[in-house]
Amino acid sequence: MSSGVRWGILGPGAIARSFATAVDALEDHEIVATGSRNPDRAVAFNAERNYGAEVGTYEQVASSEAVDVVYVATPHPGHLEHAALALRQGKAVLCEKPLTVNASEARAMCGVARARGCLLMEAMWSRFLPATRRVEGWLSSGSIGEPRKLAASFGFRAGFDPGSRLYAPELAGGSLLDVGCYTLSLAALVFGQALIGGEAPEIRVEAELAPTGVDQHCNIVLGFSCGAEANLECSISRRTDHTAAILGTEGGITIDEFWRARRVALYRDSRRAATSEFPFLANGYEYQAMEVARLLREGATESPLLPHAESIALMELMDEIRRRIGVRYPFESTIGVTEGVGERCRRSTGA
Ligand SMILES: NC(=O)c1ccc[n+]([C@@H]2O[C@H](COP(=O)([O-])OP(=O)(O)OC[C@H]3O[C@@H](n4cnc5c(N)ncnc54)[C@H](OP(=O)(O)O)[C@@H]3O)[C@@H](O)[C@H]2O)c1
Repeated sequence: MSSGVRWGILGPGAIARSFATAVDALEDHEIVATGSRNPDRAVAFNAERNYGAEVGTYEQVASSEAVDVVYVATPHPGHLEHAALALRQGKAVLCEKPLTVNASEARAMCGVARARGCLLMEAMWSRFLPATRRVEGWLSSGSIGEPRKLAASFGFRAGFDPGSRLYAPELAGGSLLDVGCYTLSLAALVFGQALIGGEAPEIRVEAELAPTGVDQHCNIVLGFSCGAEANLECSISRRTDHTAAILGTEGGITIDEFWRARRVALYRDSRRAATSEFPFLANGYEYQAMEVARLLREGATESPLLPHAESIALMELMDEIRRRIGVRYPFESTIGVTEGVGERCRRSTGA
């Protein structure tokens, strides 16, 4: 590998464009190959951005000698196939969120990465933002005591369109997988082991389904045996407030627009104790690219900030939530709830 990071993109769509803007802002990072199902779209993407990048099919980009890391930016149902294409060629992979459609796919993807000894990381970009890292620091240093409550909501209004990725069951649409995953990721940051691998949380969920059968709005409550609670909301049918609030036994934290956090505040004794601002270098997607670069330098195969176990555990939780609200995608024979949190929840609640 060269000293820089040479990226190959699979699926030059909306998020690939945002990610490319971040890569362009980083020294030593370059997009060297663009893969599309239609070469004209890869050519157009390169032309738009003045890239001299190779153009090819997904297979060609995944096997290109020029590429160090493949960024999978296709809709959720393609993630497993497209990441596996690259991992089997010995490439590192940064795969868009959610890692896969369900937990059994997530286990399969992580299994391929492990078998090939390749780096695999979910592109849950919020997790790598400096503002989120500051919150993590406050939590781990006990600045707010024991976290007791989290309120986080991520909702936006996308007009109903059965053909759009967001509403199409065949593209694994719905609010939970599209934006609910951000609220769950924050819950994992706050409640750590209680959510990842510990005793299963009690789950209460209410959902509104769109005419296509996918969830357009969910209210989720996760209750932990210690009495702590996460109130989460996600929506593709209405705008919600995006400020997250964490309440602990000794204080609290607020995160403005938590999924693209730049401003965080710490409270103690109901008074503001600190406010920190972290302007992005580019658009925020650069921090996950920098984490990939760091891991490659260290020869690591997963990120300690977002290990495979966390991505899998959150997919298990999403499987269980979907099972409860009756959202199953047409290509799924069953939702992969035979292991992990689904099973733990059913055993403990009899649901
Ligand atoms: N991190 C974030 O902030 C963020 C934001 C938005 C989306 N995402 C994630 O990124 C992924 C892609 O979302 P997007 O909004 O960028 O989607 P998009 O604009 O529809 O682009 C996806 C690209 O994937 C390719 N593709 C492969 N199979 C496809 C299929 N069956 N249907 C449609 N396109 C297909 C297409 O490129 P070619 O046909 O040219 O190959 C398309 O341009 C999703 O998993 C989503 O959750 C992340």
